[in-house]
Amino acid sequence: MKILGIETSCDETAAAVVEDGTKILSNVVVSQIDIFAEYGGVIPEVAARSHLEAILPVINKALSDADCTWDDIDAIAVTHAPGLLGSLLIGTLTARTLAILHDKPLYAVHHLKSHVYANWLSGDKPIFPILALVVSGGHTQILYMPEHNEFEIVGTTHDDAVGECFDKVAKILGLPYPGGPAIAKAALNGDAHKYKLPHPKVAGLDFSFSGLKTAVLRAVQKELGLPISHPSYDLRNHLTEQQVADFAASFQKTAVDILCEKLTAALEQYPDTQSVVIAGGVSASAALREALPEAYFPALALSGDNGAMVAAAAYYEIISGVEPTDPYTLNIYPRISIEK
Ligand code: KG4
Ligand code: ZN
Repeated sequence: MKILGIETSCDETAAAVVEDGTKILSNVVVSQIDIFAEYGGVIPEVAARSHLEAILPVINKALSDADCTWDDIDAIAVTHAPGLLGSLLIGTLTARTLAILHDKPLYAVHHLKSHVYANWLSGDKPIFPILALVVSGGHTQILYMPEHNEFEIVGTTHDDAVGECFDKVAKILGLPYPGGPAIAKAALNGDAHKYKLPHPKVAGLDFSFSGLKTAVLRAVQKELGLPISHPSYDLRNHLTEQQVADFAASFQKTAVDILCEKLTAALEQYPDTQSVVIAGGVSASAALREALPEAYFPALALSGDNGAMVAAAAYYEIISGVEPTDPYTLNIYPRISIEK
């Protein structure tokens, strides 16, 4: 079964053709990172406009790279939640129109589910029951997966997502958006033990990352001998390259340690777990990969947003008995939970 997966939930316009949920026939990703690098974050209206321009060429390239015509495609899958409203709208409206035009069944996929299923697109397949750590720009959750397409949220962040925290700390340090790769690069030359940063006290398997961001801000102000009223956007002008590297390394280590601590606690709570799966943009982190050698990680190219993972997730929905959605009425849900 060949599924065309379409993803536009944030700032990547992506489409891919995947066979039987595991074999990637094509995977086209057009990133808007260059547009947003200098702004320090995504501007929703600009993102939606960029998706509008890119979506049809990206889909056509995904079909031609896969050597497919519309006749070869068995179903269309699209991210309908969660994400930026305008971005989600472009992808879903395009998918709805194409499904009607080419008479294909349409599947609406939750973005976090897609990230998890990126782990079925390369290497060995994880074994159930699974604990999935989803770490992206918008979410930080631990999910218990007894079977395909069954998700229970067992831990979640009370405030910022870990990726968001990387992005905000990068901004404080004067590093570009997205913060994750920029911090990873700067950290290579830094001392991860130079600055002691606190671990948040959050009960159970939940997370909190807004305090860590503030702790970095305060540590930078203290290091520079500046008052806490000193504006954060100006601090980068006072930091040396070595200080940036040391803060990046210390922060990265703390963030990774926090994630690993909660994962360890989750494994104690769910002792029948057979595989640990890491998913979402932060799964690209080399530091996280090093800290969790036993866990499943997506191929690096599939860590960030892409259409292949959407097609994979839809395939496992289909074999789990999920019915296609109505292309005339499919809605978007910018904030809906994976459990709904
Ligand atoms: O999954 P994703 O591409 O988009 C969302 O669904 O949010 O995740 C993007 C997030 C950003 O916050 C980015 O800074 C982070 O993933 N990220 C990383 C790395 N690469 C991307 N965080 C830490 N280390 C990385 N190497
Ligand atoms: Zn994502």
